[in-house]
Amino acid sequence: MGILWILCAVMGSFAGCTDAERDGGGADGKAAPSAESPANGPRRESGPEAETPQAGAAAGILLVNSENPLPEAYRPEALVRLYDQNHRYFQLAKADIEICETVFEAMDAMFAAAHKDGVTGFIVTSGYRTRAEQQAIFSAAADGTAAKPGESEHETGLAFDVTARGSESFESTPQFAWLFAHCAEYGFILRYPKGLEAVTGYPFESWHYRYVGEPHAANIMDKGIALEQYVLELEIESVPAQTKNT
Ligand code: DAL
Ligand code: ZN
Repeated sequence: MGILWILCAVMGSFAGCTDAERDGGGADGKAAPSAESPANGPRRESGPEAETPQAGAAAGILLVNSENPLPEAYRPEALVRLYDQNHRYFQLAKADIEICETVFEAMDAMFAAAHKDGVTGFIVTSGYRTRAEQQAIFSAAADGTAAKPGESEHETGLAFDVTARGSESFESTPQFAWLFAHCAEYGFILRYPKGLEAVTGYPFESWHYRYVGEPHAANIMDKGIALEQYVLELEIESVPAQTKNT
């Protein structure tokens, strides 16, 4: 089965753009993602086949897992290097971490809000990974937390990992508590929740957050479900990966 797209009627008729993007955000201090950047979908190539997934799609959620691997040629859109951005409310574990621009804007707003609430000390440890980088991580990981190359959300540029300064277990930190409570307000979900290991196929990951935009994030986090369950819950259309991004 290819990548699954949620075709969400409530999102209106603007193609490749989430509600947050359409509205431009900002008024309430939340993320103001770029209207040009389809935050939840792959880069659109030219040609009639590549246009197919967007046809009639108001917005999509890209589901990546072992049953829905990314096409070999998948390339995320508009990556930015976090080191080069004006990020004041989180630190970086290394200088070469990249993420989709839209996701950075949402992260920036989210960590600024945490700072305002007195919650600081976030350290972003990972963002976009090439397939080769995911292969290396997968080969080195023995605990089942790494996805196989082609099956990781990190290859989309829509997910990041985070920890807290001085913590050995992120799960037990105030930073985790704040993120868990507020990430949805900024379009993020805790992608691998506790208790849903059989659904996601991965152990609980307190550190991995995935951008899906609003209101999907609020729906998912309010219900306490996994992205896989959310996709099933909605009327969705399956699009073969080959027609999305060849
Ligand atoms: N840890 C997640 C599953 C990944 O490797 O993408
Ligand atoms: Zn991760």
